[in-house]
Order: sequence, then C-alpha cells, then structure tokens
Amino acid sequence: MDANEVLSVFDHTSWDGPFDADTQARALAALEEGRVVFLPHLAFRVRATETRLLRVQRAGGDRKNVSFDPARGELGGSALTGNDATSLAAMIDRFGRQATGMVAGLAPRYAAQLERARTSFRPVEVQGRAQSLRHDDRLLHVDAFPTRPMRGRRILRLFSNVSPDGSPREWHVGEPFSEYAKKFLPRVRAPLPGSAWVLKTLGLTKGTRSRYDAMMLGLHDAGKYDADWQKNSPQAAVSFPAGSTWMCFTDIVLHAALAGNCALEQTFYIPVQAMARPDSSPVRVLERLSGRALV
Ligand code: SIN
Ligand code: FE
Repeated sequence: MDANEVLSVFDHTSWDGPFDADTQARALAALEEGRVVFLPHLAFRVRATETRLLRVQRAGGDRKNVSFDPARGELGGSALTGNDATSLAAMIDRFGRQATGMVAGLAPRYAAQLERARTSFRPVEVQGRAQSLRHDDRLLHVDAFPTRPMRGRRILRLFSNVSPDGSPREWHVGEPFSEYAKKFLPRVRAPLPGSAWVLKTLGLTKGTRSRYDAMMLGLHDAGKYDADWQKNSPQAAVSFPAGSTWMCFTDIVLHAALAGNCALEQTFYIPVQAMARPDSSPVRVLERLSGRALV
C-alpha cells in the first residue's frame, strides 16, 4: 500500500482556517471513510520559553505520556513541578484549544456534539520503548479503551509533531477496518455473562462495558498477537514531519507508531449520530458482521 491511499492532504497553515465548503466536505469524507487528514504545513507553535520544558520533560520522564484533563485543568504524569508544571499544562491546554477550534471549523457537523477528552504530550522516543505486546503501539491496532467504555461513540485524535530536534513521527497505516474485522472477529470470544457488571461494580470501568467495547478490545488484542498479520498485511509507511499535524478516527484507522520523540495529541469523543456516514462507524460495521445489536 502507498501513503497516498491512506492520506488526504490539506495545505492549510492556520488553525483558524478559513475552511471553505469543498474543504469541509473533503475532510469529512476522508475522516469517515477511514483515511488520515494530513496538514503538512500546520504547525503547533511552541514558544521560545516552552522549548526548555519539552527538553526537561523528555529527559526526566519514565512515563509514556503526560496527560492533561481539560475538565479539571489537571496535569498527570509529568516530571516537572511548580511553575514549570504550570507552564507545561498551559502549553498543552493551548494546543487542545487550537485543536478543538480546528476540528469544529473543518467538520462543523461535529461541533455541537464534540467532546474534548484528554490532551496528551508524548515526549518519549517511540522506537525501542519496551512494552508488553498488548500495550505496544508499535504494532498495528485500532484504539479501544479497557477502562473507558465508548458504547459506540467514535474516537477522533489529532496529533502535532513538535519534536525539538526535527525528528519525523513514523506510522504504518493498515488495511480497511472491515477487512480487519472480518479476519479477526471469529477469534474474539464473547465476554463471560455478568462480566461487564462486575467490572463496573469494582470500579474497573467508567460505566458499563458494552458488547461493542468487548469486541473492539478483542480485535485490538487479536491483531497485536498475530505476528504474521502484523508483518504481512497490507500497510503504508507514513512519515509526519516535525511541524506537521494530522488526525483520524483511530477506532477505524489501523495504525502503528514506529518512531518519533515529541508529539501532542488531542482526543475527541463524538456520537455516531453526528456522523455523515454512520454506516462506516465501527459499531455499525461490527453489527452487520455479527448480525446483532452491540450497544
Ligand atoms: C497510538 O495512538 O497508537 C500512538 C500514536 C502516536 O503516539 O504517534
Ligand atoms: Fe493507538
């Protein structure tokens, strides 16, 4: 597969657009059909006073990500303290606000129902980072959250590469979701009766895990455990340079992050009802394949 097949490129340089109707339609189609919207010239501007924070955080962290919860204004997982922590949180929040404005401008049909979830800063070099198979995002996967049931809601993620040494972020993007689901669904076992209730009651999930969530987690793991498929399934190598931005629905775009050392990421949750093409949502694809309602 070729990068051109999985990317839709937009030449915008400003987070505020303007985005005309043609651009909006092209972006919406790309996202919902499972391509990556790539903005090679849209950079998140790190201020001169913030560059030091990126370096200090990178040197000091053993955690994979620093996360910022916009609802509480809280920073988690940072090695920084005091004013430095406050400044890092402010930078991450500024990125999250710009990302939110950009998605609302580019895809206005999502704007009213767009939930800004966590913002993350990913300062650790991806290449060579030791992980269990299940947690290794260098392997192709779609995103599914063990503790946060989505119950069919979509996961849209926007990334900016802010590497201070100019390193690109290298991804592989895999085959269409429907192909992946057809192959792995027969290997996914149904959850034990009552297990969703137990997980919720023990506080292990925030809300009740639906069959959809269990299926997505099963697909996530089955794909990561299949070494032959990881190696030989169709995939395109994509390089996102420092100073670029990209976004996709990571619940349908098979992705693996192979290298890169400094990215910012904003997650959004969006209900299926807001989609222009709800039938291409993973919950609908899996309902068709399994012949039953999943939420
Ligand atoms: C992932 O979402 O699997 C990792 C993407 C990245 O950090 O580039
Ligand atoms: Fe992922």
